[in-house]
Amino acid sequence: MTTRKTSLIQLPDARALASRASERVLAAADSARAECGAFHIALAGGSTPRALYELLAQSGADFAQWHIYFGDERAVPPDHADSNFRMASEAWLARGGVPAAQVHRIRGELDAPAAAASYEEELAQSFGTREVPRFDLVLLGMGADGHTASLFPGTTALSEARRTVAATWVEKLAANRITLTLRTLNAARHVLFLVAGADKAPALREVLFAREGAPQLPAARVRPWDGEVTWMVDRAAAAGLRDA
Ligand code: 6PG
Repeated sequence: MTTRKTSLIQLPDARALASRASERVLAAADSARAECGAFHIALAGGSTPRALYELLAQSGADFAQWHIYFGDERAVPPDHADSNFRMASEAWLARGGVPAAQVHRIRGELDAPAAAASYEEELAQSFGTREVPRFDLVLLGMGADGHTASLFPGTTALSEARRTVAATWVEKLAANRITLTLRTLNAARHVLFLVAGADKAPALREVLFAREGAPQLPAARVRPWDGEVTWMVDRAAAAGLRDA
């Protein structure tokens, strides 16, 4: 089975992108809660999603049945300036609404392999299965090099076929990261990529219009075996698509 559907939605700017993404997230939550009484969403890190998280915080939505996870984390404590958890907390989670026990943080303060093992166990407990967890929605960003989550080109985590969470050394950053693996990302029911900025345009073109047989950038390898992928991109990031 392959990705059921891939959609591309272009928005004028990052603000419009955040607004449309918040509508999509809230709709996905309503659908999941109606279907099975809970909504399991993995958040993206970096800077692009902050505006989305701020809109969710202001939405007045009922988060009581939401379970929040993270697609990746830097190997830093939760109060560190680089922490994805800190960014999401400041923009949304610390303002309340999501029960604390339903916010599943990657423990970046541990050494990376221990943090990965700990998160793998937390996912198994939270989803109630030793099989790969199937997120209702995974939010992802993309770097100018085509990385997504902390799956960077040329890193060991990209080839991890068994684990659901991996620790990975990222040479270009000279840093450890903890990340959901492609096995987990590709088990998702919905993946929503949020990509903004002119610097992403070359990678976005390569990911969406990869030449047959060309080596795939990490973001191009996110192809849920029974799920949908939506790319929400701003005009600047889409600049390379017009003549594709
Ligand atoms: C991270 C993210 C990473 C991010 C991209 C895009 O931990 O940094 O998971 O994959 O989504 O690097 O980042 P920006 O949104 O800041 O451009």
